[in-house]
Amino acid sequence: MTTSTATSTAQRRGRWWENATPSGSRELLPSPAGPTEEPGPPPPLHGSGPLLQTLRFARDQGRMLFEGSRRHGDIFGITTLLEKRPLTIISHPDHVKSLFTAGPALAPSTAGQSQLRPIVGDSVLTVTGEPHRRKRKLLMPPFHGKAIAHYQEQIREATDREIDSWRAGSRVRLADSAQKVTLDVIMSGVFGIDYRSGEAEQLLRTRLRQMLALSVSPLARVSELVSMRRTQPVGVQKWGLAHLDRAVMAVIAERRAAHVPGERHDILSLLLDTRDEDGAELTDLELRNELLTLVLAGHETTANSIGWAFERLVRHTESYGRLRDAARGADDGGYVEATIHEAMRVRPVIPLLGRRVMADWRFGDRVVPEGTRVLVGVLSLHHRDDLYADPFTFDPERFVGVKPGSNTWIPFGGGDRRCLGATLAMAEMRILTGEIARRADLRAVTSAPERPVHRNVTMIPGSGGTVEITSVTR
Ligand code: HEM
Repeated sequence: MTTSTATSTAQRRGRWWENATPSGSRELLPSPAGPTEEPGPPPPLHGSGPLLQTLRFARDQGRMLFEGSRRHGDIFGITTLLEKRPLTIISHPDHVKSLFTAGPALAPSTAGQSQLRPIVGDSVLTVTGEPHRRKRKLLMPPFHGKAIAHYQEQIREATDREIDSWRAGSRVRLADSAQKVTLDVIMSGVFGIDYRSGEAEQLLRTRLRQMLALSVSPLARVSELVSMRRTQPVGVQKWGLAHLDRAVMAVIAERRAAHVPGERHDILSLLLDTRDEDGAELTDLELRNELLTLVLAGHETTANSIGWAFERLVRHTESYGRLRDAARGADDGGYVEATIHEAMRVRPVIPLLGRRVMADWRFGDRVVPEGTRVLVGVLSLHHRDDLYADPFTFDPERFVGVKPGSNTWIPFGGGDRRCLGATLAMAEMRILTGEIARRADLRAVTSAPERPVHRNVTMIPGSGGTVEITSVTR
């Protein structure tokens, strides 16, 4: 099959991830965006039937994004059961910038309406306005570059422990392998728990793993759909959370009882020292919500990004060869980081970001009314041929010596809601990618790319980035 036939078949079936067409590049034309008092036509509507659109939105976002952009361009709407008004989907960098720079009063995040809300309650991820600013300020210090330097050795040790367990000839799901590392790192950073910790803490680790395993079961997919517009968990999610909560609360109670201010440096200990303006300490529920947010937001995202990076690498042997040479040399010349940037461009683990516009808003020649929920199509933005030449081609070279743009490369979102853990995640991914490339030789188990699967707000590799280990050094 020729490339163009393969592509048109892929496009017809909505398999955007099989698209390999070289498409050259176009020039980016500027497009006005921001609050407006002038009227304008609404965005064109894509697809029909709110129920069907809701199901596609939950299950097949990639297809919807690419079909909509191909047919309508920079902006289109879809009617769903989620909102009275059509959801507006945008992918022009000027439009994205208008939302990222607008500030919380004009374009607040809609993460509070995501499927994470029933799980994490009110936390830095889900609240808006002043409470968000306060929570974010509180949580910032442990995620600054300097603080992250403390984690480096631990990330390396956890990575080496994992690679030591690999055997030549066997298969691994790299997202699962990376998850062991990122869970160790986040549990230690957040709760101060490591693999040598006590009983209550080990139970929390076990419960978290169980909850995560449960979240991929078919039953969980159903309760995920049912929970979509709720603020409280239901079904299997509720049952799993009750178990997890008992374990989290036990650790919080134990820590509170034994707390000596300033003695420990994990985030739980820092939060135990925190007082609000009236001198009140955070309640157990407030602590639970923030900690669970950090754990949930902070390890699967990173682990699946690693899964995607190697899913791409083992199918692009030239780039993979260059990565191994770079990782095995004295200086990697920025190739490890360029590889991560490129993997996060072609396979962003969070393919859509939500904002609500609190004024009538112009996006190019279209205008949406105040109160509209706008979704930033991270995946479609990352595949624009006026931003990236041959956008469907995986090519780390494009980021060697090139800093990704803040409105054109947005796997961590942007503005005042940009991912709090981005520096930690990048440190984890640099070490994991570098060490795996240095110590192991891997190959693909199928030539076909892995299918993206949508789970909650994430887009993850269908087989977890499965590879065969051909050799591993001790
Ligand atoms: C590759 C890994 C990761 C990816 C792709 C990722 C992506 C994102 C994205 C897209 C957002 C929403 C940004 C927006 O709406 O503009 C976000 C928010 C957030 N992330 Fe991450 N994340 C990753 C790792 C982490 C880690 C390691 C942590 C913490 C340990 C973390 C904690 C958070 C928190 C707390 C928020 C909410 C920030 C706010 O609303 O102010 N993330 N992340």
